[in-house]
Order: sequence, then C-alpha cells, then structure tokens
Amino acid sequence: MKLLVVGGGGREHAIIKKLKENPSVEKIYALPGNGGIALDAECVNIGAKDIAGITAFAKEKAVDYAVVAPDDPLVLGCVDALEAIGVPCFGPRKNAAIIEGSKVFSKNLMKKYGIPTASYEVFDDAEKALEYLKTAPIPTVVKADGLALGKGVIIAMTREEACGAVQSIMRDRQFGDSGNQIVIEEYLEGPEVSVLSFTDGETVVPMVSSMDHKRAGDGDTGLNTGGMGTVAPNPFYTDAVAAECMEKIFLPTVRAMKAEGREFRGCLYFGLMITANGPKVIEYNCRFGDPETQVVLPLLESDLLTVMQAVTAGTLKDTPVVFRKENACCVVLASAGYPVSYEKGYEISIPGNVLPHVYVAGAAEKEGRLVTSGGRVLGVTATADTLADAVKEAYALADQITFGNKYFRHDIGQRALNCGK
Ligand code: AMP
Ligand code: GLY
Repeated sequence: MKLLVVGGGGREHAIIKKLKENPSVEKIYALPGNGGIALDAECVNIGAKDIAGITAFAKEKAVDYAVVAPDDPLVLGCVDALEAIGVPCFGPRKNAAIIEGSKVFSKNLMKKYGIPTASYEVFDDAEKALEYLKTAPIPTVVKADGLALGKGVIIAMTREEACGAVQSIMRDRQFGDSGNQIVIEEYLEGPEVSVLSFTDGETVVPMVSSMDHKRAGDGDTGLNTGGMGTVAPNPFYTDAVAAECMEKIFLPTVRAMKAEGREFRGCLYFGLMITANGPKVIEYNCRFGDPETQVVLPLLESDLLTVMQAVTAGTLKDTPVVFRKENACCVVLASAGYPVSYEKGYEISIPGNVLPHVYVAGAAEKEGRLVTSGGRVLGVTATADTLADAVKEAYALADQITFGNKYFRHDIGQRALNCGK
C-alpha cells in the first residue's frame, strides 16, 4: 500500500513510525514532513494547508490511503477533497472538524446535549464583552472562537487582564478572523487529562490517557508552549473517572455530532479537567495531540493502519484496539528561547541506539546532516513497566542527544509521579 501522511511534526513522525510496522505498507509520503521524518518516509515539499497541492499529488501517485494529522487541513476540508478524488482517509470531514475549528460551535454543542463543560457566554461585539466583564466572576477564561496556533486561550486572573484579552482578540484582531467571536467562560480547577479516542461516528474507543506539560519552564512556570513533554497513562484518570467520561462525555459527544449531521470519523481528542464536580470538557481537538501521540502510539499493541481503516470503514466495533499495560514518557528537546525566539541551524547528533525512540519535530536536512529548524526540535520517548522507570529512561536517552542551544524541562512526569501523595 502507498500511504500519504499530511503534516510535518513530531506527531506525524510517531504516526509514520507506527504505520510502518504494518508489512503491507510499501511507501509513505509525508507532506511536507521534515528532515527527521525523511529517515522514515519520502518527504515532499507540499504544505499541509495546500489542499489543491495535496490532492494533485495523491492523484498523481495513486495513493491508497491518507492520514490527515494537523488541525488546519482538517478544518479546511482536506479529507473532503481527498475523498472527492477517491482516496479513503483517516480524519474528520470539514463539517465535523468544526468541533475544534470553532469554540462557539463546540460550547453550544455541549450545552445543547448536556455535556459537562465550563459555563460560558459568547460575544461578537467587544463593547458587550467588556460590559459583561465588569461583573463576571474572576478568574475567567477568554477564548478566540477559531484556530489560533494554540494561543487563543487567555486565563485572566484579573479583570484588567480579561479586558486586555478582549481588546487584543476583538479590536486589535491578534488572531484575525479567528477572533470575530469570543467565548468567555468559567475558570475551572483540577488536574488535566488528555484522552485521544478512535471513533467511526458510532463506536468510540478511548486510547490510553495522557498528561501534557504545556508551560515552557520547570514547575509549570513560563509561557504556554505546544507541549514540552507527556506521560501515559495519566494517574489522575482513574477507572471510575474513565467510566464517568465514557457515559457523560465520550458517547454523548459522538452521538451529538451524528445527530447534528456531522458524523465524526477519526481521532477525537478530549481535553478534560477533573474538577471537584466531576470531569468536564476543556476543549475538543479533531486530531491526535502533539506530543500526546508520542506517548500514546508507542503503547499501542494493535496495528495502527488496521484500526485507522476500521475507523474509515465504520467497522471499529469489530476491531480490537489493545494498549500495552506499560508507561511511557516523552521529553521534548527544544531550542533555548522557545516559544518566543530562538536560533536555528545547529547540527543534531543522535546515537544509533537512541534513534528508534526519537520523533523529530523541527529539524531540516542540510548537506546530509540533521540541523535544528524549529522551536520544538524533537521528542524522546521511553516505555517501561513503571512510570518512574519510563521517566528515568527518557531522560537518559535525551542526555545522549546533542545540539546547540538544547533546552528541555527537567520535571516531565513529576506531577504524575506525585499523584495521590
Ligand atoms: P488550549 O489552548 O485550548 O489547549 O487551552 C490551553 C489551556 O488553557 C488548557 O490546557 C487549560 O490548562 C487552560 N484552560 C482552558 N480553559 C480553561 C478553563 N475554563 N479553566 C481553567 N483553565 C482552562
Ligand atoms: N498537546 C496539545 C494539543 O495537541 O493540542
């Protein structure tokens, strides 16, 4: 089989490495991929948002199956376009990807179907939002409606900060049209859990739970990033919480999307907060998480391509999806200065024994060498019987990788290790 994977980060590298385990896979094209992914797939310089370019390429190469991984192409309708030329895909169509593409849509969906989430108000007028903020409970959370490179959520600890967020999103149009509408919502507290799931629109199969570490600095300090590391499973996600989520969140969401005529097929990501009043949805993503995928897929025992094809065919109910009862830890190695500004172009050295554990996010190939080209450069994942061992091993592997301005958090997994203490 000839496969096409749209995207070019650590998540896509993890997906590609897993897909390659299936012996029927002869070829994987990554669009655009990156210098590290090039070790495992043929990278083609077509951007993930270039829907016309992607479909033309898929047609030319007669690819058998496509995986659309990032949010942007999904929200733009990449799956619809590929299906229109006869290429079966893993990923939701445009009308279902809206569950991530519009926070107003997802909040209204949850309200309509009684799915637990933070209470909220929607505004399309800055004046009215500012008026509301005069008496709103503080802290509060201001969210741009549309995609905003993961930066459209502002946790406002004071009224001034909340007003500043409205100003920059709606008046200064910091995120362009994504800020035409905003959601102002209740501030929730509790441990966060990421649950990625496979769903064919009918059946929903949660993957092993995980925990992201979003802040740049040790002890959850500094700016928000795309994610500096992950562990799986997440110890805050107990069996009792999992059962409650299935009953009150996962199944109701999948059924709600179907009832709205927006059947969701692909990976539906539930960003949850385990509050004192039970689990609540913080956000939905219409795709695999990054760097959650880098700990979840290494624990998947079943064949990924088989599961993905069952999702596409609507036969997930009859397809076993098994995860190993082990623990995984991914430590992200970044360029110092990320997420603000950082230097690029430093040579990366990865010993052969470490390479199978590496998922490359921001590296380019230059004269046969791998050099840094992004903020998050790569992730290193280790699996072990205990979380403590997985963490130790991931750091031991990370220590063996060298590049200029290498930066990482030293406490990935500590919050999970201290759970219950
Ligand atoms: P997002 O950019 O949508 O991934 O959100 C970023 C982060 O903001 C989440 O991971 C949460 O930590 C936080 N967040 C979002 N909504 C809320 C909320 N209602 N209450 C508290 N924290 C929130
Ligand atoms: N790691 C969070 C996300 O992928 O949205």
